[in-house]
Amino acid sequence: MNEQLPFLPLIADGEDKSSPLKNRIRKNYRHVRKWAGRTRTNCFRIYDRDIKEYPLAIDFYDGRFCVHFFTSSKGSDEPRQDLYDEATNAICSIFGVETDCIYWRTRIKREKTQQYEKAADSRDFFIVLEYGAKFKVNLVDYLDTGLFLDHRETRRLVASISSGKRLLNLFAYTCSFSVHAALAGAAFTKSVDMSNTYTDWGRHNYLLNAISPNNNLIVREDCLKFLEEEKMEYDIIVIDPPTISRSKKMDQIFDIQIDYVSLISQALRLLSRDGVIFFSTNSRKFKLDESQFPDCSIHDITKKTIPIDFHNQKIHQCWKISKIKKG
Ligand SMILES: C[S@@+](CC[C@H](N)C(=O)[O-])C[C@H]1O[C@@H](n2cnc3c(N)ncnc32)[C@H](O)[C@@H]1O
Repeated sequence: MNEQLPFLPLIADGEDKSSPLKNRIRKNYRHVRKWAGRTRTNCFRIYDRDIKEYPLAIDFYDGRFCVHFFTSSKGSDEPRQDLYDEATNAICSIFGVETDCIYWRTRIKREKTQQYEKAADSRDFFIVLEYGAKFKVNLVDYLDTGLFLDHRETRRLVASISSGKRLLNLFAYTCSFSVHAALAGAAFTKSVDMSNTYTDWGRHNYLLNAISPNNNLIVREDCLKFLEEEKMEYDIIVIDPPTISRSKKMDQIFDIQIDYVSLISQALRLLSRDGVIFFSTNSRKFKLDESQFPDCSIHDITKKTIPIDFHNQKIHQCWKISKIKKG
C-alpha cells in the first residue's frame, strides 16, 4: 500500500440484496468511502448496531475488519452461529476478502474493575491512516486496537487549535491526541499514561510520524500522582480517562463519576489563562455537575465530536472547559 493514499476497495458484490445486514454495510461504506478518500483516512466504522437484530459494530482498518459483538449477558460472549455466518458472508462478499481478514471481538459487560489486559500474542501490528497521520494498530492482542475511532473528530478539533501551544494529554493510551497535535505544530506536548505497553506504543506512533521526542515527552505515571506534582503550565489539556481503573501502580480505584471533580480541578491549576480543557468519558451514566466549577465556562461539545460513521450518539460525552476571565 502507498502509505499516503488510503486503501479503500470498491464494492465487489454488485447489488446483492439477500441480507439486510449486507445492504446496510454497503450503504454505510459507500457513504463513508468518499469522505475517507478525501481525508486520507482508512480506519472507520462501517456498521454501528443500525439494525436491532444484528447487535454488531464493524470497523474497517485498511482492508481488515474488526467485528464487535454486543451482548448484555455476562455468561455468553459468543454470537449465534447464524449471526456469525451472515456477518462473515456479508463482509467477504462486499469487500471481496477472505475470512482471515475478519477479527471477531466480544464486548460482554465487563466486571466493574476489570483492567486493560493482554488477550493474545499474535504481534500482528499494522499501520492505518487517520487524517493523514499514521497509527500502529493490532486487532487481536489487546482489549482495544490502539486507536479509539470514536474520538477522531475530537482529535481533529484539538489539532486545529494546537499550533504553537503546549498540550498535556492525560490517560494518553497510544498518544493519538498528541500525534495529531504535534503534526499540527504544537510547540510542546506531554503524554501521561501508567501503562508501559501503551507508552511504548505511543513512542512507535511518534517514530511513524517523524515526531521529535525532544519536545514531545511521554511519561509513564499514574495521572493522579502526576497532577499532584506537575508544575508546568499548559494551553490545552486533554482528559479522556477510563470509567473505572484499578492497578497495582495506583493507590486506589479510580471511578470517573467520583473522581472527575478533583481531576478537573487539578488540571485547572495547570491551565494557562486562555487555556482549554477537553474532558471526555465513555461512561453513559456519567453526569457532569457544572456547579462544581463556578469559575469556569463549560460547553458540551459531544455532538460536534461524534464522527459521521458512528450512529450511536451515546458512544462518548465531551466537554470544553475554560476559565472565566476576571478583570
Ligand atoms: C480509555 S483509555 C484512554 C484513551 C485515550 N485518551 C485515547 O485518546 O486514545 C484508558 C487509558 O488510561 C490509562 N490509565 C488508566 N488509569 C490510569 C491512571 N490512573 N493513570 C494513568 N493512566 C491510566 C490506561 O493505561 C489506558 O491507556
